[in-house]
Amino acid sequence: MKILITGGAGFIGSHVVRRFVNLYPNYQIFNLDKLTYAGNLANLKDIENKENYYFIREDIVNRESIMALFEKEKFQAVIHLAAESHVDRSIHNPLEFVFTNVVGTVNLLYAALKIHRENPGHFYRFYHVSTDEVYGSLGSTGMFTEETPYDPHSPYSASKASSDHFVRAWHDTYGLPVVISNCSNNYGPNHFPEKLIPLCINNILHDKPLPIYGKGENVRDWLYVEDHASAIDLIFHKAKPGSTYNVGGHNEWKNIDVIRLLCRIMDRKLGLPEGTKEKLITFVKDREGHDLRYAIDSSKLQRELGWKPSVTFEQGLEKTVDWYLNNRDWLESVTSGTYMKYYEEQYAKRFDQ
Ligand code: NAD
Ligand code: TYD
Repeated sequence: MKILITGGAGFIGSHVVRRFVNLYPNYQIFNLDKLTYAGNLANLKDIENKENYYFIREDIVNRESIMALFEKEKFQAVIHLAAESHVDRSIHNPLEFVFTNVVGTVNLLYAALKIHRENPGHFYRFYHVSTDEVYGSLGSTGMFTEETPYDPHSPYSASKASSDHFVRAWHDTYGLPVVISNCSNNYGPNHFPEKLIPLCINNILHDKPLPIYGKGENVRDWLYVEDHASAIDLIFHKAKPGSTYNVGGHNEWKNIDVIRLLCRIMDRKLGLPEGTKEKLITFVKDREGHDLRYAIDSSKLQRELGWKPSVTFEQGLEKTVDWYLNNRDWLESVTSGTYMKYYEEQYAKRFDQ
């Protein structure tokens, strides 16, 4: 099977590409990525010379190039992960999220449908990798199920909700075989250090303040990235066209507790007395429209397809810290240049409050 994976140089995409290239030598895996600040080919160094792996640098917003590429390669399936993915950036620059997440997704749908129509039986599926943030925010109880109505709040989640709706529309209106999964917060190797966990790992290593928005009471449901990749593999191969699956590992944590645990792990690994790094915790101005709590019910995926996460949050966080400690070069390279400018602009305002 000839599969196009978009966003494969990013955090989750790199784990999905690696898994497919290594596990399925008979598949041809095409990784299409624009290489924005979040895309990094160093994430795929170990597989870049494999015979079944191809890289294409392209922007999914560029409709003509996308149509021409599909015409040439006649992909049989798409796993679509390319996106602008950071909520804080979406608050400052929402239009970029509309272009990539909405227009880019629709461009891919057009191109996939053309292949599907012109070559009956050839196109297997269009898989959109989405987020639980489309469901909005929970109070202190309850969980998101596949039936929870969409209620996005941030420009990021609004753009992902919109793209999910377009994917379903291409199924219901034009008969494109599509699948969607909505996953909770991921963490693990190759996570760009603008998101909570890798940002705090980087700041701990540089003895910089750990910025906790508001009171740190917001709850996220964490999943180790390789467990997301295994769910994507299963859903890609087993889910029925038109279906949706929630993905998550029942790991609800308040932000402040995540960072306290992270500080304890890093004190131990850096040979410091317990309590050393916790002193860096700094409460800063809250995020605008900050969703209080996410919790995802993935029982459908567990029941129907037999998926299970492989690690607990504590185990996954240990593995993640080890990876960052062993890959200081990666961290230094992605935090040089424009990253620091963004970080300083973004956090200067928050620390002032
Ligand atoms: P990421 O920001 O690390 O990676 C995104 C990748 O997409 C990058 O390689 C980037 O270069 C590429 N990209 C961006 N704009 C592009 C464009 N116009 N054309 C082509 N490529 C482009 O994101 P991630 O955290 O790996 O998330 C991947 C997908 O999974 C996204 O669709 C996201 O919404 C979804 N998701 C993420 C999480 C999470 O916790 N990170 C959870 C659930 C779902
Ligand atoms: P983030 O990693 O940006 O993921 P998302 O917003 O998609 O859930 O943020 C996770 C949680 O951590 C969220 O509640 C916001 C909070 N947060 C902080 O408290 N400080 C930070 O510096 C960042 C980036 C996030």
